[in-house]
Amino acid sequence: MSDRLFIFDTTLRDGEQVPGCQLNTVEKIEVAKALEGLGVDVIEAGFPVSSPGDFKSVEEISKAVTWPTICALTRAVENDIRVAADALKYAKRKRIHTGIGTSDMHIKYKFNSNREEIIERAVAAVKYAKSFVEDVQFYAEDAGRTDNEYLARVIQAVVKAGATVVNIPDTTGYCLPWEFRDKIAYLMEHVDGIHNVVIATHCHNDLGMATANTISGIMGGARQAEVTINGIGERAGNTSLEEVVMTLRSHRELGIDSNINATKITHISRLVSSLMNMPVQPNKAIVGRNAFAHSSGIHQDGVLKNRESYEIIDPKDVGIDENSIVLTARSGHAALKHRLSVLGIELEKEALDKVYENFLKLADRKKEVTDDDVLMLAGEHRENHRIKLDYLQVSSGVGIKSVASICLLIAGERFEACASGNGPVDAAINAIKVIIRRQMLVKEFLIQAINKGSNDVGKVHMTVEYDGQHYYGFSANTDIIAASAEAFIDAINKFPA
Ligand code: KIV
Ligand code: ZN
Repeated sequence: MSDRLFIFDTTLRDGEQVPGCQLNTVEKIEVAKALEGLGVDVIEAGFPVSSPGDFKSVEEISKAVTWPTICALTRAVENDIRVAADALKYAKRKRIHTGIGTSDMHIKYKFNSNREEIIERAVAAVKYAKSFVEDVQFYAEDAGRTDNEYLARVIQAVVKAGATVVNIPDTTGYCLPWEFRDKIAYLMEHVDGIHNVVIATHCHNDLGMATANTISGIMGGARQAEVTINGIGERAGNTSLEEVVMTLRSHRELGIDSNINATKITHISRLVSSLMNMPVQPNKAIVGRNAFAHSSGIHQDGVLKNRESYEIIDPKDVGIDENSIVLTARSGHAALKHRLSVLGIELEKEALDKVYENFLKLADRKKEVTDDDVLMLAGEHRENHRIKLDYLQVSSGVGIKSVASICLLIAGERFEACASGNGPVDAAINAIKVIIRRQMLVKEFLIQAINKGSNDVGKVHMTVEYDGQHYYGFSANTDIIAASAEAFIDAINKFPA
């Protein structure tokens, strides 16, 4: 029998910290329910003291989800812990995740403190959290760069204070795989009572080794892996859930497995990517568009003769349905509803009608509507913007100046303007600026095709600076100039009124 690995998902906390990836409470509940269906053991639902929005999300996810433990993050600060306990009040199973930096760098520069005082603060935080909940997880931030002997003293102290799980984060993604395994093994050997608690890994991907380090940590004795869907997270991201789960399934000889229903991996990957407007790189392991695509003739021939010649995972095992129905302009309501439900999205009649209307418009412009397109369309109906694009006309070409005329609907009223620019997108943005008279600057602009082919939908991600803050905009359209204008408008809609 395999040893059990607990999967702690932090997509809604560490993953959601990525600029531009913020979700509203309804979207977070959608992801939390999908995580429950996937079989994760713990959902880190947020950092309640950080904002009223985070507090509400933890509270609402606690109500919506039954089986997984709901976890809330805190610093080693009494008020954080009190607020987290309050946010968790409706959770059927609850955990407070408290902690403090333990590397010399954190102790000196972040806390202007010393090693002994940090141990005292860690112990006090765990004891205080224990006065609210039984299940208390402690994190030693920057444990990856903390020397093992001191780390063992910290962990010893918090285990004695009642921590049920001890999290050893490689916060900066610095460790080498064998170094990280040895760190966990050192704790297993030097901390009394460590066998009565669970050791967790929490690896960041700054050097591209988050999954390798997590697997190594598990080999060293950890039995909880902290992960995110698609590996999203601060900077280069966190360890990706799908990679850890499928590594253990592909290497049965390791004798460790999780409770994850892997056939739901593809669906949740697309759901998170679509809700967070965070594209998955095409060559991403397990969930990238090309992860199971064989383009060279030799590989194609080999796979046709025997799939296992070039594939170590059967795509069906991660929920890739090769026989899925292709939607076209002739597909009806029922086909769209079925596809949405396979993708994990259930819509009320009114919302479904709206998505269907947009689906038909798209299907007129594209021969085949893919799952990614359907997710994009389903995402659109959630937006309820004050400023909307009514029409856009652009003339551009080689050797002429680009000119755009535009009409915006602002709270239902029409505003028209014209402007020129050094290209069609620049002209469209300048025309919008004629109407919206604010000092705004496009800081980042990314255009990407969703699938392939010149009739494809283009996705635009844009970051706009206004009043010292960055606002994120997104749109998708078969017309990339329109998508760019819409993404700019999407960002403007997020400015404070
Ligand atoms: O990376 C990290 O150290 C963290 C902790 C708050 C667990 O995210
Ligand atoms: Zn982290």
